[in-house]
Amino acid sequence: MYNAFFGFRENPFNLSPDPAFLYRSPQHEEALANLIYGVHSRKGFIVLTGEVGTGKTTMLECLRDYLESQYVEFAFLFNSRINTEQFFEMIAYDLDLRCAHKSKTEVLFALNHLLIQQANEGRTTVLIVDEAHNLEWDVLEEIRLLGNLENPRLGKLLQIVLAGQPELDRKLDAPNLRQLKQRIVLRCSLAPFTLAEAVEYVNSRLKKAGMPEPSVFSDGVMQEIHLRSQGIPRLINAICDNLLLTAFAAEEKQATFAMLDEVCQDMRLEWPGKRLRGRSPISADSSEGAPLFSPREQF
Ligand SMILES: Nc1ncnc2c1ncn2[C@@H]1O[C@H](COP(=O)(O)OP(=O)(O)OP(=O)(O)O)[C@@H](O)[C@H]1O
Ligand SMILES: [Mg+2]
Repeated sequence: MYNAFFGFRENPFNLSPDPAFLYRSPQHEEALANLIYGVHSRKGFIVLTGEVGTGKTTMLECLRDYLESQYVEFAFLFNSRINTEQFFEMIAYDLDLRCAHKSKTEVLFALNHLLIQQANEGRTTVLIVDEAHNLEWDVLEEIRLLGNLENPRLGKLLQIVLAGQPELDRKLDAPNLRQLKQRIVLRCSLAPFTLAEAVEYVNSRLKKAGMPEPSVFSDGVMQEIHLRSQGIPRLINAICDNLLLTAFAAEEKQATFAMLDEVCQDMRLEWPGKRLRGRSPISADSSEGAPLFSPREQF
């Protein structure tokens, strides 16, 4: 809607996890490197955790792109509220197994065949499960058993990536899952952005969308965006998108604190210190000015 006004080729703050807009923060870079390394080293289980909206699915989408580019077979389960029958059916569908998809025995047989065939060709096979914190206990148990598929010569036949909210870590700590927990060889986690990362993140999105010299968010406004989003990329996107829309409606090329207040109120956003301070006391139509809080580098 506002693209032409600001000179964007496309929307800079889309909410979908799009690898084309990937900002390689050190922790995202490390997480992706771990995922790729874990898959290649054929060690078995890899776990990726992070709070809501920190970029887990984006990382998995990057891994998917990578696996496709390397012709590695994989199954990607993005819906984890499934029972064991649906779990095997989805694996069979994704891996295009030639068998009765509803028969667990047949799926296991065909899967084993595929895994050995791939391994003999020097390839591995990957199972990716997003939102894994929602998995039922018996599905987790099936996943653990799949992780046992191994060949003394070829190593682990199926690499399993589980991604989810921090509850996943707590779930894996449960006594009945200790066997699975012991098999996890790599763990990575995503934290909210620091202020410096948030600034780079927003600028990288603006640049990728076609604004080579981003000036739409002043330093002060950017600090407030970081504070109010608590460094969560999805919230940063939502705030920035709404700010651009509000600035466009006002025919302004720069977002102001007043616009930010309005946007946060519309989004019913809560952040630390909101009640103490109330709304931004900085001049309603100013986008400049000293920061109200000292910049928070970490959350
Ligand atoms: N490193 C990054 N580079 C570019 N965009 C990112 C990055 N991290 C997160 N995002 C963006 O933030 C938003 C949320 O990311 P994503 O959906 O991957 O989070 P999530 O951790 O999977 O969230 P949830 O817990 O709700 O599933 C998306 O719009 C995504 O594009
Ligand atoms: Mg996700």
